[in-house]
Amino acid sequence: MQTFDQKVVLVTGASSGIGRATCRELAARGASVILLARREAGMQETMSAMPEEQALAIKTDLSDLASLPAMVEQARAWKGHIDGFIHCAGAGARARLRDVTTESMLRCMRVNVFSFVEIVRKLMRLKKNTDLLQVVAISSLAAMGHDKQLIAYGASKAALETAAKIMAVELASRSTLVNLIRPAFVNTPMNTGADATLGDFTTRLEESGYQPLGIISPEEVAQMAVYLVSPAAVHISGAIFPINGGVPC
Ligand SMILES: NC(=O)c1ccc[n+]([C@@H]2O[C@H](COP(=O)([O-])OP(=O)(O)OC[C@H]3O[C@@H](n4cnc5c(N)ncnc54)[C@H](OP(=O)(O)O)[C@@H]3O)[C@@H](O)[C@H]2O)c1
Repeated sequence: MQTFDQKVVLVTGASSGIGRATCRELAARGASVILLARREAGMQETMSAMPEEQALAIKTDLSDLASLPAMVEQARAWKGHIDGFIHCAGAGARARLRDVTTESMLRCMRVNVFSFVEIVRKLMRLKKNTDLLQVVAISSLAAMGHDKQLIAYGASKAALETAAKIMAVELASRSTLVNLIRPAFVNTPMNTGADATLGDFTTRLEESGYQPLGIISPEEVAQMAVYLVSPAAVHISGAIFPINGGVPC
């Protein structure tokens, strides 16, 4: 059994929010982390709280699907193996049905689903069948279809969940575990401030009581993601773990 110290974990969305918290938690447990995002400054900020020798940043636009196989090869060349992949990156969009465009749906699908499939496919090509690979994808409560104006985002997260569950079945015989985390609202830039792609939710949460346990911290989601790539979680695959803030789901 590998110890956490020998693990190398690839993390998308490493420049912000849940991805940032995940990278830092992994490093604190002794893992080496490959950070992926478009914003180099954001990744540098993440790495400022990590030991230098445990972090490698690769600037990546996940919507450029053709570039991803070469990126995975570059990432793997760093330590010669990749043992975990946590897909935190997410593209959000909030719009009424009448305003939804095919392009906004495709943008969510590319970042949230297609890039995930491409990266896992390439990781599978590079590893031996006996090498353990633990994969985690961050879905969303939006996949359940509870909330309005989230057609592009929610549909992409539902597609992500189904793709990951099918991978779990298909890849079990090749020592590969695939799980999902389905958070309710988390306190990250996706939801806070004027630029929030899903809209600033704090007032809405307070007024509506939609999420009775309150806003989730990115660190709480990170803890679960790190557990799912740890040596303690080698008999779990195809599962969805809700961090639901008390919202029935
Ligand atoms: N916040 C919530 O309430 C909530 C709830 C449920 C699920 N989630 C999910 O949690 C995950 C993390 O989101 P967050 O809340 O931490 O939001 P965030 O702070 O806005 O982070 C989003 C991350 O995705 C990356 N990203 C977006 N488009 C990308 C692209 N084309 N190429 C590469 N990276 C890209 C961003 O990096 P760059 O901009 O640097 O590229 C950033 O690191 C997402 O999958 C989100 O859907 C969030």
